[in-house]
Amino acid sequence: MDSLTINTNSGSYSVYIGTGIRNKWRELIDYASYSSFFIVTDEAVEARYLSSIQGHEDIPTFVVPSGEGSKSFAMYHQVMTALLKADLDRKSCIIALGGGVVGDLAGFAAATYMRGIDFIQIPTTLLAHDSSVGGKTGINHEVGKNLIGAFHQPSAVIFDTECLRTLPDQEWRSGFSEVIKHALIHDEHFLQWLMKRGKRVQDYTDEELQFIIKKGISVKGAIVKEDEHEKGIRAYLNFGHTLGHAIESELGYGTMTHGEAVAIGMIYALKLSEEYFQTTLRMDEITKWFQEIGLPTAVPKELSTNKLVERMKKDKKAENKTLQFVLLKKIGQPVKVKIDDEDALELLRSSIEGSGAH
Ligand SMILES: NC(=O)c1ccc[n+]([C@@H]2O[C@H](COP(=O)([O-])OP(=O)(O)OC[C@H]3O[C@@H](n4cnc5c(N)ncnc54)[C@H](O)[C@@H]3O)[C@@H](O)[C@H]2O)c1
Repeated sequence: MDSLTINTNSGSYSVYIGTGIRNKWRELIDYASYSSFFIVTDEAVEARYLSSIQGHEDIPTFVVPSGEGSKSFAMYHQVMTALLKADLDRKSCIIALGGGVVGDLAGFAAATYMRGIDFIQIPTTLLAHDSSVGGKTGINHEVGKNLIGAFHQPSAVIFDTECLRTLPDQEWRSGFSEVIKHALIHDEHFLQWLMKRGKRVQDYTDEELQFIIKKGISVKGAIVKEDEHEKGIRAYLNFGHTLGHAIESELGYGTMTHGEAVAIGMIYALKLSEEYFQTTLRMDEITKWFQEIGLPTAVPKELSTNKLVERMKKDKKAENKTLQFVLLKKIGQPVKVKIDDEDALELLRSSIEGSGAH
C-alpha cells in the first residue's frame, strides 16, 4: 500500500492507494472518534462491492441509481432525508463508496448536513482519483453542471485499485482522460510514459495502477495545496473542462461520460493553445493517441457551436461573461487566457465531427 498526504488550509488528510484495501477502511481512519457511519453508494457498486466493506451490515446504506442523473436536487433531498431518519449527528461520518457521482453527492450531503460533518471517500472508478481529492462537492442544475455545491475536504481517501478491474471500458477511458489531463498540465515525462504504455486496464499491473493514481493525485494535491478555493492556479485543473462541461450540458448529462467530453475539450484547448502561442504541442500525435484509446476528439455534429459558446460563457469559471480557457504554453505549463467569442467559435466550427479536421 502507498499513501500520500493532501495539505489544505482547512486541514490535511491521507490518501491510501493499494490493492484490496477497501475492507481495511476501519484501520485506516480514526474509527473510534465517530459516533456512527452512513454509506452512500450506487446500484452498480452496491452489487459488486458493498459486501466487501468491513462491517457494512451494521451501517445504514443509501443506494442511488447509477449515473450522472443522481447528482440532482431530488436525490440530494432523498439522501438528506435518509441521513435525518438514521439520526446522524455531528460526530457521524458518511462513507462515499463509488465513482465521482457518489463522491460529489455524498460529499455535498456531508458538507451541508447539520452545517457539515465528516466524510471519507472509497473511490471505485479511475476518474475518482480526480474527484475524490480536493474537496469539491456538489450537484447539477439544468442551467449547468456542478453549479450547486460546497468545498468540503474528505477526512480520508481509500483508493482500492482492485475495483478498477470491473470498470466497463468506457468508464476506464473516462478516468484515463483525467489522468492524461494531469500529465498534460504538469508532467511531460508522465505523459510520455502514458503514451508508450497500454490503453486498457488489462495492460497495467496493480503496481502500475497504483503509480498512475498516485501521480494523478499528486498533481491535483500540489495544486489544491496552493489554491484550495480556486482563486488562481486551481483553475488549471479545468484544462479541457470549459468545452467539456458545455458539451455534457448540451448533450444532456450522462449521454457522454465526463472524461469523453473532457477529451474533446482537451483537443480543442490544445489546438487553441497552438494557435494562440504560435507553438506546436504534438497535436497530431496526441489526437491519434486519443483515437487509439477510443476517446472522442471532435465535437458531436448534432451540437450547435453558438449554443456551446453561450454555455461556455455561463461556466462558473467565466468572468463577466468573457470566455476563459486554460491553455498550454507548452506541456506542463498551463495559463489562463481570455479568448474572443469569434475566435473560439471559428475553431469550434472546425472541430465539429466530419469537418475534416479529424
Ligand atoms: N469533485 C471533483 O473535483 C470532480 C472532478 C472530476 C469529476 N467530477 C465528477 O465526477 C463525476 C463522474 O465520475 P465517474 O466517472 O466516476 O462516474 P460515476 O460515478 O457515474 O461512475 C461511472 C459508472 O461506473 C459505475 N461503476 C463505478 N465503479 C465501478 C466499478 N468498480 N466497476 C464497475 N462499475 C463501476 C457506476 O455505477 C457508473 O455507472 C461527474 O459528475 C463529474 O462532474 C468531480
